Amino acid sequence: MPQIRPIAHLISAHRQLEGGGFVVRRPLPVAGLDAVDPFLLVDELGPVDYAPGQAVGAPDHPHRGFETVSYILAGETEHADSAGHRGALGAGDVQWMTAGAGVVHAEMPSRRMQQDGGRMHGFQVWVNLPARLKMTPPRYQGLQAAQIPQATSADGRAHVRVIAGAALGIEAAIATHTPIVYQDWTLQPDGEATVAVPADHNAVVYVFAGALLVGDAAVGDGQMAILGAGDTVRLRGGATGGRALLLAGVPHNEPMARYGPFVMNTQAEIVQAFRDYQSGRMGRIAADGT
Ligand code: CO
Repeated sequence: MPQIRPIAHLISAHRQLEGGGFVVRRPLPVAGLDAVDPFLLVDELGPVDYAPGQAVGAPDHPHRGFETVSYILAGETEHADSAGHRGALGAGDVQWMTAGAGVVHAEMPSRRMQQDGGRMHGFQVWVNLPARLKMTPPRYQGLQAAQIPQATSADGRAHVRVIAGAALGIEAAIATHTPIVYQDWTLQPDGEATVAVPADHNAVVYVFAGALLVGDAAVGDGQMAILGAGDTVRLRGGATGGRALLLAGVPHNEPMARYGPFVMNTQAEIVQAFRDYQSGRMGRIAADGT
């Protein structure tokens, strides 16, 4: 018998200014909840309509000890990092960056968006790395929308884009260091989906359009449901339908020392991260064309 996960806590995202001054809806972390191990942060960027010359991003900044995952729903961003990776992301594209031992990167609107403006909407999720992988070499996986497996239920009322994990008989194309589920679900009214999420995973559902029933309880736009014990996540579209991210992963259950862009296990490792960044050991972004 599948054991449907109930909602253990329901959290409302708060609004926050980030990077060069863009507004995010942030359901994690919130007051009283630092993380849902292994997830450190869930930011919804926008949707925001930029006028020409107004689009802002996050210029050069470092990370160490975890992964940043960007998923663009609308707009265009450009990425460059000190490990030599460059990428342009458009609607539906995903970038899974393992900062590991350390990178300096810039996440900016594309030149065209900076010039002409336009709509920006997307997610950034931070996935923690276990102690044994915190100093792993940086890795960059960029997937275009067409490379992300998607599937629709037999009745056409449930649709999923599988960025990580498996659902509706399809599996993700991306590689993760530890078992992670990252899926974008769209449920039409009366649509229904059940997703196997192993009992050893922590799991959350963040609704970012409409409303869904998660287990038996309603979750509205901008709310994140933290799920309790079970091996199956049940999503239903109810009267309105809605869209949500399903995130799950095996917790590391390790001490966490966190300061800004660095997430380590001890305070001494945070101090070391600052030293390494300030002395240039995380590198810098090479100028265009070099
Ligand atoms: Co960053």
